[in-house]
Amino acid sequence: MNVDMPVVGIDDLAIYVPKLYIDYKDFAQARGIDPQKLEYGIGIRKMAIADTNQDPACMAANACLKLMQKAHIHPQDVGRLYVATESALDESKALNSFVIGMLEQVYGEGSFEHAGGIECKFACVSGSYALHDNANWIRAEENSGKAAIVIVSDIAKYDLGSAGEYTQGAGAVALLIKEEPRLMAFDPKVASTVIKNEYDFYRPFGKETPLVNGGYSNLLYLIQVRKAFDAYKEKALKTGLVKLNEGEAITDHIDFFSVHLPYRRMGEKALAYLLRHEWRHLPRWKHVTKEIGMNEPQPKDPRGTIESILADTDFMKADEQFRRAFMQTSFYNETYEKKMASSLEASAQIGNLYTASMYMGLRSLLEFEFKKGTDLEGKRIGFGSYGSGSSAMVFSGIMQPTYKEIVKGLDLENDIGDRVKLSIDEYERLHRKEIDFNSAVTKAHKEFVLVKLGGSTADKAGFREYDYVS
Ligand code: COA
Repeated sequence: MNVDMPVVGIDDLAIYVPKLYIDYKDFAQARGIDPQKLEYGIGIRKMAIADTNQDPACMAANACLKLMQKAHIHPQDVGRLYVATESALDESKALNSFVIGMLEQVYGEGSFEHAGGIECKFACVSGSYALHDNANWIRAEENSGKAAIVIVSDIAKYDLGSAGEYTQGAGAVALLIKEEPRLMAFDPKVASTVIKNEYDFYRPFGKETPLVNGGYSNLLYLIQVRKAFDAYKEKALKTGLVKLNEGEAITDHIDFFSVHLPYRRMGEKALAYLLRHEWRHLPRWKHVTKEIGMNEPQPKDPRGTIESILADTDFMKADEQFRRAFMQTSFYNETYEKKMASSLEASAQIGNLYTASMYMGLRSLLEFEFKKGTDLEGKRIGFGSYGSGSSAMVFSGIMQPTYKEIVKGLDLENDIGDRVKLSIDEYERLHRKEIDFNSAVTKAHKEFVLVKLGGSTADKAGFREYDYVS
């Protein structure tokens, strides 16, 4: 390892979540679904819904302003501002340009002129690429002492009545990337990716909701993250980041997991899939299978490609049974409670945030572990980021001695603020865009909102104007 390499990571973070939500019980009743399926099978209690005058740009600006104010950062301290989203507002004009426009209403016109940045797209994984590209920009010392801000912002919107409808949500997370970070330093030279052309979830031009093959996207997520994790493991062992003793798994050297969370239950399943993969060749596995009372089923084709697994219906059935049983074992549950449960709390209260979901998971992990009294100093957090289409990125970071400065003030309920429950009728009208953007349900307070959409002349089509409401 190069000892001179700057230590770079996440210094601070802030969130913005819209104040409107739908309650899972109302939703279940309206759609004729057992509420237990939503609460336990999916893991959702409240889904955040954007108001008529909110979009991914103003949610990103709101999260960024909160971050800058709380971290006492000024525009001259920022060299790059990236926004990762899959809810783009324009085919050409980047989302971060709208964000800069809003921030300059507060900090002064031209205050960000010296900075740079782009909008990044690769479904839900693009924020992780943005984070690492910016970390490397700082490591390469191209940053002239300045920090980078990466904002992940999305509105997860699915067709009314579809299976994806109960995995909706909205919100943004802004992350401050710096040298000598107060919160968490990235482990160097281990971030690993995989990529493949897939159609598990995509949104053709002009279409507001995605086309999604839900079951396929779930399986692809698991396989791609596992592959990226294999590559991470190889690098971690090669660089000496981790040394494995007899009978140990690399997951034993990761204290917490934060993974992509389209819905809470998916995080639980991702952990189960990873643990099975890492444990099945270790002595502990015989104790696991003894507790389950069956051996792990084997696919006919040992290559384990997604095509061969899907074609092997007998295996799929038996594996599903084994997976459920594994998730009931004391081995899984102990690891889940210790290493993952805290990261899933926010997901149940907010829903799917696409690019922002894993980072809201990190925020949740920090807050709820701290509230449990866990000492996080020196602890390693492993990240499993997935974007449909498809690519996965696995990386890790170490909690810094100064982490409490950031974590002690985290309070999800307070950060979201008072919320307004929508009736299903109101929600459906918002979903169908039957309410004009200037007839918002809630009254804006200390935030940016959309005030003008398009112009009276053709050359102003697509113009979006925002105001800061103090
Ligand atoms: N009580 C408790 N749990 C119940 C239940 C009940 N009455 N009825 C069903 N469930 C459970 C199922 O057993 C299943 O649990 P499992 O995950 O342990 O197998 C879970 O609820 C989901 O139900 P299921 O019928 O398998 O799925 P679905 O048809 O509702 O679809 C998605 C779920 C996620 C595929 C769908 O919401 C979707 O397409 N979402 C968008 C795409 C997405 O998020 N992909 C993720 C990867 S990026």
